[in-house]
Amino acid sequence: MSNKSLGIAFIGAGEISILHGRAVREIPDAHLVGLWNRTESRAIERAEEEGCRRFATPEELVNDPEVDAVIICTNLETHLEYAELAMKAGKDVLVEKPLCGTVAEVEQMKKTALETGKICMPGHNMIHEASLQRAKKLIENGDLGNVVSCYVLYNIYHDEQRASTLPGVVRQLLTHHLYTLMYLVGRPVRAQAFKTTRNHLQPDHEDLTMVNLELESGALGHLCASFAADDLSPGPWTFTVKVIGSAGTTHYTYNDWVEVKKGISHSHTYTAYQDTITNEVRQFVELCRAREGEPSSTLDDAVWAQKSLEAIEKSIAEGITADIK
Ligand SMILES: NC(=O)c1ccc[n+]([C@@H]2O[C@H](COP(=O)([O-])OP(=O)(O)OC[C@H]3O[C@@H](n4cnc5c(N)ncnc54)[C@H](O)[C@@H]3O)[C@@H](O)[C@H]2O)c1
Repeated sequence: MSNKSLGIAFIGAGEISILHGRAVREIPDAHLVGLWNRTESRAIERAEEEGCRRFATPEELVNDPEVDAVIICTNLETHLEYAELAMKAGKDVLVEKPLCGTVAEVEQMKKTALETGKICMPGHNMIHEASLQRAKKLIENGDLGNVVSCYVLYNIYHDEQRASTLPGVVRQLLTHHLYTLMYLVGRPVRAQAFKTTRNHLQPDHEDLTMVNLELESGALGHLCASFAADDLSPGPWTFTVKVIGSAGTTHYTYNDWVEVKKGISHSHTYTAYQDTITNEVRQFVELCRAREGEPSSTLDDAVWAQKSLEAIEKSIAEGITADIK
């Protein structure tokens, strides 16, 4: 393993790049070399904020010898193109979630990672949370007995302006729920789902979805993803994960750490959110330096998350229980 600081660059410098920038600053053996963004004014602004270089093109960025690894922070539709560009230029990649728009695209990304021998780590940040890692250990050790059910619930209001720049919550959010559920309690095999638009103007941008899942183990899962309203109750389901077992339970919530200042897209700053991104980037840097080991959530998990998402969409469209296979 080299002692040299790992040079990182960002392709895409929108909102999420702010959290990645902070993550890289917190990791001693990595540094931000520079960034590229399609809109130049935004690239200038973010490069000044980060005190880093600004590349004229993605090609210039991936071919720069100071860049060892690339974080892909563009919109979902361009993840595959830029991840492949970087891997083929010999760079490791961390790709924001959702990795791609189709199962075939995620499989293509995996194929390129295998062919180039480069690390391609899914940006599955929520599981890089210490409480969930402890929960996983308890489940794996059998300390919770038989897992009965797993709940992943997300209720964070997004204003009209922000919501209009994102896909509906099925595409924008459910990936988080699916890889988190799989990390803790294993794969889902059947899905039943609904979606609706309750508090936003674009009817095709659903702002609420609820999903019931049958898991490979026989346990059941429930997912809720909402941009429609904040949960202002005394026990809010802002971002909450609960696993109930025959011999114990675990519970994790964003609301244990709340700062009264606006977060990216959120009315408050949920401290744990930044930490999940920082821990994720830390694991990416460790993998890039060690050249061995697997991320906590793999490309195979990303493939299954995408299959699950497509089954959920089928269930919604056809009003059926859909198999995930
Ligand atoms: N892990 C998380 O919790 C989390 C949170 C928010 C967003 N994300 C993901 O991060 C990615 C970016 O989201 P964001 O919130 O920063 O969005 P954003 O709208 O702030 O930024 C989008 C970026 O994509 C770029 N872009 C758009 N179309 C492009 C194209 N055709 N070619 C090149 N660049 C293009 C824009 O210039 C901008 O840099 C998305 O994949 C999103 O799902 C993840």
